[in-house]
Amino acid sequence: MDERKYGKLVDFVHMLINQSYSGQSDLHFIDATCGNGFDTLFLCKLAGTKGLVKAFDIQPQAVERTTLLLNSNMEFINYEIILDSHEFIPKYISNNIDAAVFNLGYLPFSDKTVTTKGDITVNAIKNIIPLLKENGKIFITTYITHDTGNEIHDIFKFLSSLDKTNYNVLHINIINKENTPPELFIIEKIKKNA
Ligand SMILES: C[S@@+](CC[C@H](N)C(=O)[O-])C[C@H]1O[C@@H](n2cnc3c(N)ncnc32)[C@H](O)[C@@H]1O
Repeated sequence: MDERKYGKLVDFVHMLINQSYSGQSDLHFIDATCGNGFDTLFLCKLAGTKGLVKAFDIQPQAVERTTLLLNSNMEFINYEIILDSHEFIPKYISNNIDAAVFNLGYLPFSDKTVTTKGDITVNAIKNIIPLLKENGKIFITTYITHDTGNEIHDIFKFLSSLDKTNYNVLHINIINKENTPPELFIIEKIKKNA
């Protein structure tokens, strides 16, 4: 049995992605906020030798930490780590993608004043949506504390208006915890030529 808890949203996202994509080849993933590299490492392992993961962060420190983690844990190279804002992801992508992961907020064990920002995150999501394959998904784990909920508000506002014929949007909350637990948004594309 998988002992990981749904209530730990980072693990929950990994379980969902694993369930959707495990055993497939030619997987293309994006990590839109690579940070310390844990999500990138997970995606690289799942993508396997025939897949490709592109990971982005605006902080050189995050790119360095992710590079180190991958160098010491991957036996093959199926990734590129890119120092740039997730707003500009389409510049770097030539194939449609299976899934993208955002884990927002600040880089743990670093400068907590450098955080993701609602308007930029929404632009990045808008730019990634057209890159999704049929059944492609975007997972966005969000936090309240870094900006008292402004980013979540911006994301919620944009995603609530997303075309319902072409996309399902889920919003998952942990409702019995104090101290502002994280929230998860999932976008899934349901039509081929959206
Ligand atoms: C919570 S951390 C990510 C954690 C990471 N996924 C992991 O597994 O360790 C959030 C990251 O978003 C990055 N970030 C902030 N604004 C960004 C932007 N516009 N584009 C890409 N990354 C950004 C921060 O530098 C930080 O490293």
